[in-house]
Amino acid sequence: MLTIDTSKCIGCQTCVYECPSGALAEADGKINFIQPRCNYCGHCLAACPRDAIIIDGDGYFYEDVEEFHFEKPATPYQIRSLIMLRRSVREYSDEEVTDDQVLKILEAGKYSPTARNLQGNMFLVVKSEDEREKLLRTAAEYVNKKGDAVMDEMPGLGQFYKLKYKRYIEDNEDNFFYCAPVILFVFADNDLDGAIAAANMGFMANAQGLGYCFAQSPTEIFDDPEIRKMYDIPDNKKCVLTLLVGYPEASYFCSVPRKDPEIIWK
Ligand SMILES: Cc1cc2nc3c(=O)[nH]c(=O)nc-3n(C[C@H](O)[C@H](O)[C@H](O)COP(=O)(O)O)c2cc1C
Repeated sequence: MLTIDTSKCIGCQTCVYECPSGALAEADGKINFIQPRCNYCGHCLAACPRDAIIIDGDGYFYEDVEEFHFEKPATPYQIRSLIMLRRSVREYSDEEVTDDQVLKILEAGKYSPTARNLQGNMFLVVKSEDEREKLLRTAAEYVNKKGDAVMDEMPGLGQFYKLKYKRYIEDNEDNFFYCAPVILFVFADNDLDGAIAAANMGFMANAQGLGYCFAQSPTEIFDDPEIRKMYDIPDNKKCVLTLLVGYPEASYFCSVPRKDPEIIWK
């Protein structure tokens, strides 16, 4: 899977210094690869000045490696505007979101970092009306059950849940996916990996002029064994977050106030 093209390698040892797990070592002017230590993070490949390292096979495609040419990936102003102008969109226009746009969002998930580079995230894309209806019904039934469960101890919350269910039953109101044209469910075997991927996916949605809303409440749909079976969700994958994606109805012109977080400097 990882090979060193000895015809290109100049023995500079950049890969040896870059490798976080000691999987590359120099001996007698030759770079040796210690496979069991490697987690295929690809730092060696990215830092090699002679393109002498190849990672290919077992799910990796060397042809995916892409060169980027710029001075800075994005200016602080651009990044600030992505972060500060972002809003959770809960009203979407009818404008179609193309599969190409969805693929770019998924790509942002794929290239997000994962602990130990385990890459255990998984995504479910729902665009079909029938699937959405099925999931909406399950979400409404769950919220109804939750309402019953908390009513005695937290009546306010219980009524809130019950109202969501009532609005679904009586008016077919979608208080779960907000009628977003694309629903992206992020599954992970490590919650943090999934959350980081979801954040990057959101950036890519915004960068393409789309709006999105994170929604945690519909993730519980996938606690239901029937639903898991229906979508072939492996046992080790937990639904961490939902991204509701579409063109926003509203425009947002400025940032909103936020409280200062507590910051400790030492
Ligand atoms: C982890 C997480 C879960 C969320 N879950 C929901 C949700 O289930 N439903 C919803 O309408 N909004 C949800 N939100 C959106 C928040 O309500 C929203 O980010 C917050 O009110 C601030 O508004 P803003 O995103 O427009 O700045 C969630 C946000 C995060 C980060």
